[in-house]
Amino acid sequence: MKPHWETWAKEAKTEFPKANSALLPLLHRIQGEEGYLSSDTIADVAHLLDLAVPYVESVVSFYSLFYQRPTGRRIIHVCTGLSCALGGSDELMHRLEAKLGIQEGQTTPDGEYTLLEAECLAACDKAPVAQVNLRYRESVDLEAADELLKGEVES
Ligand code: FES
Repeated sequence: MKPHWETWAKEAKTEFPKANSALLPLLHRIQGEEGYLSSDTIADVAHLLDLAVPYVESVVSFYSLFYQRPTGRRIIHVCTGLSCALGGSDELMHRLEAKLGIQEGQTTPDGEYTLLEAECLAACDKAPVAQVNLRYRESVDLEAADELLKGEVES
């Protein structure tokens, strides 16, 4: 555990007195520093907030923007929800896998891209939907898939 995480935990608890409310901002802040949330980090956070480790693990695994493994600089989520599946998300995923030379769940060897599935991204009327870091890309046909790989990095 990094010493300043205790300070961050205190700050989160000051702003959000209930531990499970302080959890998300603390996880977000630590992931911002570490890049992802390892098992050790999850245990540290549970300790800092006096929460059970399985509870913290369940929160981390629930949210698609928390990562339990190192990721690339650009994280591409492809929605695989029903509307997007009907709109061609399988083809989109296969196109991105072929272009990047990786499978879903993997990161390119240069650390540039991580390709992940996502559950419904709540833009079903614009299927198929992808998300590059925090930016949504809607109605992504195969041509637009190539454009995804040219975009700027956003936090
Ligand atoms: S199913 Fe893809 S955004 Fe809802």
